[in-house]
Amino acid sequence: MLLEISDMRVHYGKIEALKGISLEVDEGEIVTLIGANGAGKTTTLKTISGLRPVSSGSIRFQGKNITKVPGHKRVLLGIGQSPEGRGVFPGMTVHENLLMGAYARKGDLSKDLEEVYGLFPRLAERKTQFGGTMSGGEQQMVAIGRALMTKPRVLLLDEPSMGLAPLLVAQIFDIIREINRRGTTVLLVEQNASQALQLAHRAYVLETGQVLKSAPAADLLNDPEVRAAYLGGDLGQPEEETSETG
Ligand SMILES: Nc1ncnc2c1ncn2[C@@H]1O[C@H](COP(=O)(O)OP(=O)(O)O)[C@@H](O)[C@H]1O
Ligand SMILES: [Mg+2]
Repeated sequence: MLLEISDMRVHYGKIEALKGISLEVDEGEIVTLIGANGAGKTTTLKTISGLRPVSSGSIRFQGKNITKVPGHKRVLLGIGQSPEGRGVFPGMTVHENLLMGAYARKGDLSKDLEEVYGLFPRLAERKTQFGGTMSGGEQQMVAIGRALMTKPRVLLLDEPSMGLAPLLVAQIFDIIREINRRGTTVLLVEQNASQALQLAHRAYVLETGQVLKSAPAADLLNDPEVRAAYLGGDLGQPEEETSETG
């Protein structure tokens, strides 16, 4: 198991945001966390990357207990995060933003930069443009590219499709699939549950700081409770119900 979270509790002051979450991510998987606003998705990712402390429970990465390891060291171990709201440095160029992802690494970065620019040709065209003047979708690409420059074994993505037009959402999801195909494990948080479930291998449904369900993503796409609560009917009817005309 690459990442193993056991009975993790996290508080903001007296508010218990995570009430004993357990989840696992295996090498090579795309795992998605879905759930309504406030369910605890962002808190889960922030706690994995070390931005929030746990109150109890444990986080294991590659078999090692990292619950007490500070965030900047977790990056070096291979936990890379693209944060909610992107966090692109507005006054730095696209190229400088990407280099920030690798600031703690030594050695030749040209091959890694080439790979990121290969994944995001748009960024290659805009190397010298300031981050703050990029569109929402482009900033999302910068944020993912910067996280990739940390050379993560697991890439944590918090709502990469937020605020993007449908065409761009599809592009971002294609790129996530490609990143995974090239060997990076992905833990994806999404409100866009239908697309996330179509992309992921497995999924966890979070509700008010707890895991409500976990299953192969394909099973959740056909789960009536999940469909009613999170998919809003935007996938149409499940296949077995649409073949009435025979
Ligand atoms: N900085 C904070 N201070 C206090 N409460 C917070 C803070 N951030 C998140 N919370 C609370 O923690 C819970 C989980 O939030 P969050 O992890 O952001 O959920 P999600 O990403 O699923 O929308 C919510 O009830 C939210 O109000
Ligand atoms: Mg969130």
